Amino acid sequence: MAQIGAREWLAVLGVITRRRLTRFGDIPGELDRFEAKLCDRFGVPHALTVNSGTSALICALAAAGIGPGDEVIVPAYTWMSTAAAPIHLGAVPIFAEINDTLTIDPDDVERKITPWTRAIVPVHMINTPCDMEAILRIARRHRLLVIEDACQAVGVRYRDRRCGSMGDLGAFSFNQFKNITSGEGGAVLATTPRLFERARNYHDVGAFIRGHQPLTDEPAFVGQNYRVSEMVGAILNVQLEGLEKSMARLAHRRRLAAACLEGVPGLTIAPHNDPAQAVSLCVQTDSSRVRQALEETPGVYPLSDNSKHIYANWTPILDRVTVHPDLNPWARAHREIVYSADMCPRTLSILNRTYRIDLTGRLPSLLLERRLKRLASTLSEHGASSAKERWATAAQARRMS
Ligand SMILES: Cc1ncc(COP(=O)(O)O)c(C=O)c1O
Repeated sequence: MAQIGAREWLAVLGVITRRRLTRFGDIPGELDRFEAKLCDRFGVPHALTVNSGTSALICALAAAGIGPGDEVIVPAYTWMSTAAAPIHLGAVPIFAEINDTLTIDPDDVERKITPWTRAIVPVHMINTPCDMEAILRIARRHRLLVIEDACQAVGVRYRDRRCGSMGDLGAFSFNQFKNITSGEGGAVLATTPRLFERARNYHDVGAFIRGHQPLTDEPAFVGQNYRVSEMVGAILNVQLEGLEKSMARLAHRRRLAAACLEGVPGLTIAPHNDPAQAVSLCVQTDSSRVRQALEETPGVYPLSDNSKHIYANWTPILDRVTVHPDLNPWARAHREIVYSADMCPRTLSILNRTYRIDLTGRLPSLLLERRLKRLASTLSEHGASSAKERWATAAQARRMS
């Protein structure tokens, strides 16, 4: 979780002193500066700040022209917003399994493609990048759009790119729990002027009021109000300055933590799509003894306990309930789409045996390392004694036969 303090306070004070709280004005303001920096740091031509990650996803899908009759493939493990976003535009989400990396399984994506599939939404969960090489290859082969949900991975690297910058569009969240925060907030990253103009239109009711910014030839259409104030921009400008440092800290802590837990009996480190640059760590086990030890360790969290991050808990979606029956996108789908709580068994089984090691907390790295070394030595002792027990039982069985 990102820290917030005096520098953000001063930045907001500056906005209030200047008395321009909206982004619209004669000269560029905080949000313009933030968006320019996002483009520069993330290697994308266009960025737009909005009021949440959910609205960033909706704007991105709207910009891409996703609508009734379309199917959008999303992972079965993500925050519910990823699956809800297509529904707001009249499209339906199709769930794909994750694999042991905790991200969408490219093989299952390919299995879920139908003639009505328009887009894939890979989600870089818990700072862990998807296998973007495979996803982009599949998308190219089937002529699908890729809209990256990088809400949980702002600043995370994959190969020589950044999460959110590799698809046609990307979405960030800046809510309180994210890598940079303004309490609530989000951003859309777009790769073409047209996608950007459409996202900009949708986030501002179709008004296209720009002040100092250029007008566009793109025809307007009715949108929402997902705008944010300059105070949000001021906070995000400060937060963005600290992002590289916090990514470097996470990378360092990941190396320390992985070194402590590598080779521990009964426990495996979850595979990662770019281990050299990893800033997250999950471990997996099938042993109830190891499970108990993990659950007794502070800062280690079972992924099975992830409420609305797991498709089986997305009740309004599973039940296909929308605000009004006539706005129900499943009625416009080209085939009957039925969901059930057990439709992605592999995802449930993976989440059931996976634990996240929290690297983001305030605990100093030295104490984190000490804590994980203690866990590793407890498990190694148990591992050794249970191996001895198994050997003794087998020897006794041999003697008796
Ligand atoms: C993967 C993912 N997608 C989308 C969102 C939605 O972001 P927000 O809460 O800013 O609307 C979140 C937020 O938790 C998320 O984790």
